[in-house]
Amino acid sequence: MRTVDLIHRKRNGGELTTDEINWLIAGYVQGSIPDYQVSAWAMTVYYQGMSARETADLTLAMAASGDQVDLSGIPGIKVDKHSTGGVGDTTTLVVAPLVAAAGVPVAKMSGRGLGHTGGTVDKLEAIPGFQVERSKEQFLQQVRDIGIAVVGQSGNLTPADKKLYGLRDVTATVDSIPLIASSIMSKKIASGADRIVLDVKTGKGAFMKTLDDAVALARAMVEIGTEVGRETVAVITNMDEPLGPSIGNALEVIEAIDTLRGQGPAELTELCLELAAHMVYLGGKAAAYEEALQQVTELLRNGAALDKLKQFIEAQEGNGAIVNAPDLLPQADFRLEVPAPQDGYVSEIDAESLGVTAMMLGAGRATKEDRIDLAVGLKLNKRVGDPVKAGEALAELYMNRHEAEETSSILRRTIAAFSFADEPVERPKLMYAVVTKDGVRYM
Ligand code: URA
Ligand code: CA
Repeated sequence: MRTVDLIHRKRNGGELTTDEINWLIAGYVQGSIPDYQVSAWAMTVYYQGMSARETADLTLAMAASGDQVDLSGIPGIKVDKHSTGGVGDTTTLVVAPLVAAAGVPVAKMSGRGLGHTGGTVDKLEAIPGFQVERSKEQFLQQVRDIGIAVVGQSGNLTPADKKLYGLRDVTATVDSIPLIASSIMSKKIASGADRIVLDVKTGKGAFMKTLDDAVALARAMVEIGTEVGRETVAVITNMDEPLGPSIGNALEVIEAIDTLRGQGPAELTELCLELAAHMVYLGGKAAAYEEALQQVTELLRNGAALDKLKQFIEAQEGNGAIVNAPDLLPQADFRLEVPAPQDGYVSEIDAESLGVTAMMLGAGRATKEDRIDLAVGLKLNKRVGDPVKAGEALAELYMNRHEAEETSSILRRTIAAFSFADEPVERPKLMYAVVTKDGVRYM
């Protein structure tokens, strides 16, 4: 087999066979196929696309390129959840204990945050004592015992994806739907998921700027899931503002606790229930989606999901008392209100920019080596559609450092993330569509 022949065929609109894709990926990871040829291949995929079969083959080849987590020792159907690029996305902290309370085993490996997006592992580490590192045996045993464990990613998961993603980043081939879809799905499959629920973001702050593109990406991922026997459901959600008002590690833990108590922000609550219901249904714990939705709604209402969170925290050596006493979490030294620059209505909130602001406050990492401050972040007081008066607080910054110069630039950045209109603005939709193997249902 010669790489140049594969590139040539793909360039001319042909397809690669399963063996050829496996050979290409294995050769790339081993180093026998050089970057420049894989770059050329990625660019042909960018222009020519890939068939559903090729996309599924690429996904499995990348999933098999490193360690694969074996969850077969845990009884039941393991359902994983993934969100594409969330800022202040607190859903995992809510959804994981919620579905565990419904009897769906949660054996989750999560990442740390990088750049403007937060990571679940960092948020969990805001809980005093919480351990994200467990041996494989401890991890599996905890899921068998209490139905839930969330640990940091370890080992060598999908090295092919890591290498290819780095290459795509510098060859203008990131925004190819089959490449994004296979990248995301390869990681979920290597982490051992039997079924997958995806939250695909659309809007200014998301990879997929338009609803059509988000639906196309969701369809590609659902198709891969169907093709490889891991049923997948995708919910398309809005990212024209951050989901839930808190951005920052300890702040989001508090937001999650409020939500599990039934006192969370309305939209975060609604999306968590939606995602959890799909997971419970796919996990075989309800006969229909509607029944699953009723079930998880009840588990929020009766406190069972919050109890599960406490049990989960304690199983990983964290202080479970935080669920009733959030002031045990790291606290920022001071708060600063961000004043509205004008009267009007909030028309847009740039989630990505606020993610960067939270990072500048110390809540996130600019590079992998950065240490983060778990206490800091920001909380939005206004959402899209809200009326505001000049001088009223748009948001509150939770800060630990304060050099005047930095503070004023952070204030300016936060204000600039808000857009205003003179006329009333309609609230954007939270959810646009659900994509399943049976098709797209617009909401
Ligand atoms: N997220 C991923 O994991 N992979 C991509 O290719 C794009 C976004
Ligand atoms: Ca949030």
